[in-house]
Amino acid sequence: MGAAKVKRIGVLTSGGDSPGMNTAIRAIVRTCAAYSIECLGIRRGYNGLINGDVVELDSRSVDGIITLGGTMLYTARCEEFKTESGIQKAANTCAYLGIDSLITIGGDGTFRGARALSEKGIKTIGIPGTIDNDIDCTDYTIGFDTACNTALDAVDKLRDTMQSHERCSVVEVMGARAGHLALYVGIASGATAVLTPETPVDFETDVFEKIRRGRISGRNHHIIIVAEGFGKVNEIADCIHHETGLETRVTILGHVQRGGSPTARDRVAATTMGCLAVDLIYQGKTNRVVCMRNGIICDLDITEALNMKKELSSEMLRAQKIVSR
Ligand code: F6P
Repeated sequence: MGAAKVKRIGVLTSGGDSPGMNTAIRAIVRTCAAYSIECLGIRRGYNGLINGDVVELDSRSVDGIITLGGTMLYTARCEEFKTESGIQKAANTCAYLGIDSLITIGGDGTFRGARALSEKGIKTIGIPGTIDNDIDCTDYTIGFDTACNTALDAVDKLRDTMQSHERCSVVEVMGARAGHLALYVGIASGATAVLTPETPVDFETDVFEKIRRGRISGRNHHIIIVAEGFGKVNEIADCIHHETGLETRVTILGHVQRGGSPTARDRVAATTMGCLAVDLIYQGKTNRVVCMRNGIICDLDITEALNMKKELSSEMLRAQKIVSR
């Protein structure tokens, strides 16, 4: 056990980028430096591992990146890495470059890739990084808070103009197949309704009737947040207009939610998780993911982590429904 066995750690970012990935890279590089372990940045996700696209990193190469969105290592979704020959090529590159351990920052797909490599003898640790917060083993994923705040800022601005024109704003937020981002943004923006893939919706009672009742009590503008996994924003907007007479406008927030300087919450989560990932490798652990459970940063076996299920918070769903009247 210990530093003598770990010579060179590789780090990569994979899948959709998220604000705070750079902060995690910085934490990994500097914790490696603290243990006198060499750190290699692997560029463009698992593609970089297949092609040997790497860059040496030291404490000075990560100066200033704590404030930057995106990822200095670039990112990609790699089809070749889903094949046995792709995984073998990546393992061969690790052997050639002397990478005995690998830290991968990304979502579930990234973790599955890490597990495949650990089966080839490379020590791997995953760190959850996605704006979707849709990784079941962890309460929190790096980038979620920044994306929530970016979306919230946009929805607050939409509210101003909806209020002036007495309209209804139908806003699609990202989140892949999950509604975590939509629910947070919906609660924080005071939306009339939040539509997520996880929860059934009765449009008559949950949307149209609320808007009609609002009109009677003097409220003439509304925000409806729709998770991209729910879809159909244009249809929803047309139905609201048809059923309530209120003019509607659709906004799809899109990739703007993936950018921007990470919030304090994301920087702290990324720094703590990055540091723990290197600690785990230093302790000789492998095939683990770093996660946050009940507010505590900890680690889990990758397979155990991938088999877990996370629901939308029932307290948050309830509060959103009650308060949005
Ligand atoms: O997983 C992050 C995410 O931004 C999702 O919310 C979204 O569905 C997807 O990635 C978009 O992917 P792309 O960047 O390939 O358009």
